Amino acid sequence: MNQLRFTLLSILLLIVVGCQGSSPQSMEILHPDDSTTLIKLQRHQYYLLAPIEENQREATVVLLGEQNEEVEMDLRLAVDSVDYFVPIPIPRGKDPYTIKVVGLSPKAITWQRLQLADSFDTSHRDYYRPSYHHSPAYGWMNDPNGMIYKDGVYHLYYQYNPYGSRWGNMHWGHSRSRDLIHWEHLPPALARDTMGHIFSGSAIFDREGRAGFGKNAILAYYTAHKIREGKQWQAQCLAYSTDDGLSYTKYKGNPILTPSDGISDFRDPKVFWYEPNDRWYMIVSADKEMRFFRSEDLKRWEYVSAFGEGYGARPNQFECPDFFELPLEGSGEKKWVMLVNINPGCPFGGSATEYFVGTFDGETFVPDTEPEVARWLDFGKDHYAFVTFHGTGSRALGLAWISNWQYAHLTPFKQSRGANSLPRELFLFRQEGRTYVGARPAKEVEALRKEERKLALPPTLHTDLTLSDALRDLDDSFELEVELTPSPKASRVGFVLSNELGDELPIYLDLEKGRIVMDRTRSGLVDFGLHATPHERERADWRTGEGINYQNDFALATWAPLGICRGGRYQLRLFIDRSVAELFVDGGRIAMTNLVFPRKPYSQLRLFSDSATSTIHSARLYRLGL
Ligand code: FRU
Repeated sequence: MNQLRFTLLSILLLIVVGCQGSSPQSMEILHPDDSTTLIKLQRHQYYLLAPIEENQREATVVLLGEQNEEVEMDLRLAVDSVDYFVPIPIPRGKDPYTIKVVGLSPKAITWQRLQLADSFDTSHRDYYRPSYHHSPAYGWMNDPNGMIYKDGVYHLYYQYNPYGSRWGNMHWGHSRSRDLIHWEHLPPALARDTMGHIFSGSAIFDREGRAGFGKNAILAYYTAHKIREGKQWQAQCLAYSTDDGLSYTKYKGNPILTPSDGISDFRDPKVFWYEPNDRWYMIVSADKEMRFFRSEDLKRWEYVSAFGEGYGARPNQFECPDFFELPLEGSGEKKWVMLVNINPGCPFGGSATEYFVGTFDGETFVPDTEPEVARWLDFGKDHYAFVTFHGTGSRALGLAWISNWQYAHLTPFKQSRGANSLPRELFLFRQEGRTYVGARPAKEVEALRKEERKLALPPTLHTDLTLSDALRDLDDSFELEVELTPSPKASRVGFVLSNELGDELPIYLDLEKGRIVMDRTRSGLVDFGLHATPHERERADWRTGEGINYQNDFALATWAPLGICRGGRYQLRLFIDRSVAELFVDGGRIAMTNLVFPRKPYSQLRLFSDSATSTIHSARLYRLGL
């Protein structure tokens, strides 16, 4: 009976999409049963454009990998309507080429909407996509990976899904830049394979050729992730590049490191050089701790020690480690810094970047702080997976992913979801006997300033001062720098960005509570989580492992303690880029990154000092652009 149904279902569609000489290009679509489809391409073009409907479940699309092996990708192929298309590259020289799709009904709209094309239009269509922050040309992005500076070029690899703007099919996407501002999008450097997804990791250049792939080969370390018999499996793998990071060959001996105790959360290797021992080390997140390994040949790694259990905000999943030495400003001293991205555990919910400062002797890391102390690299809700570039000498330069696993899938983007913070330079400073890590925008960012707009401001501020047109035509792409000394009697001093629809973003010093606050409660679209389908919620819950309150997980204010600033006079430097608000106080002693979705660009600026007169030392506004 079933057999009969399947035979009846075996509809053959022959779509002639163009003519090349005498033989037509063709796409045949066959449904051998009601959940399997074969797409047979002849004299094909370079891409098969696949229609995506974001809220559908994933169907399995079987493609041919580098060695002609079958690799499964998960695509939310359209069933009822099409949100956007993604390009599936069809390898040259493989004609005919057959793609198998499993788990999509023969009635799905996908079968009418598939197209062959020789190019894919990546021109910018998302309203909220940042204009001067890096984001992928299309698809989904989370963590920055394997960032490396070599021969004048910054390589930014990143967790990438080229087959949809939701998490899945982890590849390492690739962009490069000479100035940290203009990024060139390149094809993915590492693709999901039969060993699994290509999770986060790091890259180094092997100056001496210790790994045997030649001097100066770039070595990329990543985690292979797969669900095997219902259980998560993660192991560290190696790939090498001898063409300056454009293409990578996966090492035949992969995986190179599996957890001896069989833990299932074991990922995101960061490799670093430890000069006193003349050795490469690797730090890997292992559930709720970090593990150190070391190696002579960059392929075999021996366990050294672990740190983290019981430290910081807990108990939380450790992810995306980084480990480097930094000089303490104003002294000759140097300290080791461990970055630990944790999820969940953010003081405002979801994911955030924590750090520990301490000493390292090649064997163990000893933090300067007591176990209960938690320090944050950024006090916003949308700063995650911050890691630094390899090869930048004494500069600890890095990038974060601007989102939060709580709602990362639900943000109002389609074509390209996920952006990076501005490049930031980390520094160590001391305040009241404690050591902190600050993050300032890299000086290269100043090249974004296209025009300074004069602000007519009196030297003192009492109650409100509204500059109605100050931000008009800046298209939410600007930098605002205000330096002020609040009156000792004032309780709140700061400014508000707003638009004619009533969306507003107040940023102010709350002097009674000793905080700087960014309040996005009424900043524009804030309730997109409420419209989430059950499936979206299930996915987000799975990612964070905590219940989500869709009502106010986005609509909230974030704050940082003013006690880590010098006090008295404050410098507030704010970058707005469509949906990104990045704030730096006192040269980066405080950084705060939040997503905002104003329904129209903010056009008005209101400065305020309640109850007493404060002093404005300077206020500068720049239009920013590439
Ligand atoms: C952090 C993370 C990493 C993992 C990657 C998967 O955001 O969960 O631990 O490698 O994302 O995309």
